[in-house]
Amino acid sequence: MNEKRACDIIIFGGHGDLALRKLIPALFHLCQDGYLIEGTRIIAVSREKLTRQEYTDLILERFKTTFKDQSFNEYFLERFKNNLYYLSIDLMQEKAYAPLIDLLAKKPENERINYLSTAPSLFGVICKFLNTSKLIMPTSRVVLEKPIGNNLESSQVINDEVARYFDESAIFRIDHYLGKDTVQNILALRFSNMLFAPIWNAQYIDHIQITVAESVGLEGRWGYYNNYGAMRDMVQNHLLQLLCLIAMEPPSSLDGNSVRDEKLKVIRSLRAIENEALALKTVRGQYAAGVSDQKAVPGFLEEDGGNANSDTETFVALRVDIDNWRWNGVPIYLRTGKRLRKRYSEIVIDFKDIPHSIFPKGGQCIDSNKLVIRLQPDESISMFIMNKIPGLSEGMRLQRVELDLNIPKNAPRSPDAYEHLLLDVVRNNPTLFMRRDEVEAAWIWADKILEGWKKQNITPKSYTAGTDGPSASIALIERDGRSWYEK
Ligand code: BG6
Repeated sequence: MNEKRACDIIIFGGHGDLALRKLIPALFHLCQDGYLIEGTRIIAVSREKLTRQEYTDLILERFKTTFKDQSFNEYFLERFKNNLYYLSIDLMQEKAYAPLIDLLAKKPENERINYLSTAPSLFGVICKFLNTSKLIMPTSRVVLEKPIGNNLESSQVINDEVARYFDESAIFRIDHYLGKDTVQNILALRFSNMLFAPIWNAQYIDHIQITVAESVGLEGRWGYYNNYGAMRDMVQNHLLQLLCLIAMEPPSSLDGNSVRDEKLKVIRSLRAIENEALALKTVRGQYAAGVSDQKAVPGFLEEDGGNANSDTETFVALRVDIDNWRWNGVPIYLRTGKRLRKRYSEIVIDFKDIPHSIFPKGGQCIDSNKLVIRLQPDESISMFIMNKIPGLSEGMRLQRVELDLNIPKNAPRSPDAYEHLLLDVVRNNPTLFMRRDEVEAAWIWADKILEGWKKQNITPKSYTAGTDGPSASIALIERDGRSWYEK
């Protein structure tokens, strides 16, 4: 264990869904696995009027479902409880910060991590009152949850507000996809295997597909989602980050700036999708009532809190081009949506066909090689190659086989993305967090599409919940003579 300093991890929005579902369980795991050293405190802050005991009871109750298949260590549970605090604070009132000032003063030696898991409109005011309450130390960090704005301009306003009180090096902008183990495995796969390096380019790769499909609907978040839609909620951040890791040049080291410099170059090389390209290279969809996970579900417009006139998209498919030497002529197809047939996230690297076949039937049965990186629900990496069917049949008959490049099944438990990212904040390692220039470059690219949709009145196409999205997304890729990968 290399964690040397105890921290105060202050979760603003500590009673919110993310804190209860992800952050607190992740911190418990870190505690149980010995990554949070003695003296580290977790301080949940929220408006809800609860006592520390009531909050602890609530957390323990939630743990029963969160950890239902896992055993937890009673010793660490006790230790975790002893270091868990709850403060009921109206974050808009400077005077209300007094209990936080008192609690933090009890351990002035602790480093302070301020995790802002609130509405982004509160980021600025929280930072301001932390400053006026003299709670920001030279080693303090601030963690920002997405969404950081809903376009370039609003993200700049939020970033400017936070930057008044925290240096860029102390700001950790979370994209939880970067905390997923298999996502980090992309770096290992690309940059620790000579095998892939020479073929990772337009000469050998035909195209790339990135799919992040969700079967869930809005999970009670209609209001939020209606203002964002799939483009802002998923593409501008998670899908672009995956794309960056796949497409970036080798960084000179794993150091935060080397990796982020390379990702930024990819985002800046994305060809703008505008004018007539919008109709050809983008598809918006919105789910209508259907059947999902064997249950009848309402359409987006009929969801609780919904409004029948919304034209927010719950599905996006795009053809993206990267204008640089490595990727010239290699399309990247992205798609994501809610209420799709099944939940899965997958990256497919589809290699070019062989130039000439020596096999019967002109090699018509020869499938292109594919590298398939599956992020969820299961994590796996497979390579599809051609092989001879064993036996004595005349001529040489071929079959496609799957090479399993997975980590051994007895490997330790794969940590949740938030465990990894929270620990990186404790370790003060910014590599897997988004720098301001990255976020802004992503908005510049995404805003063009969003504005284009509005200007050209491109409305979402309806798709039935529980299907693969609008048929236009199949047409989008088939127009180029390709098809979505189905295992
Ligand atoms: C969040 C989005 O960032 O990611 C949600 O706001 C989405 O709408 C979620 O459901 C998906 O995350 P995961 O890890 O479940 O794929």
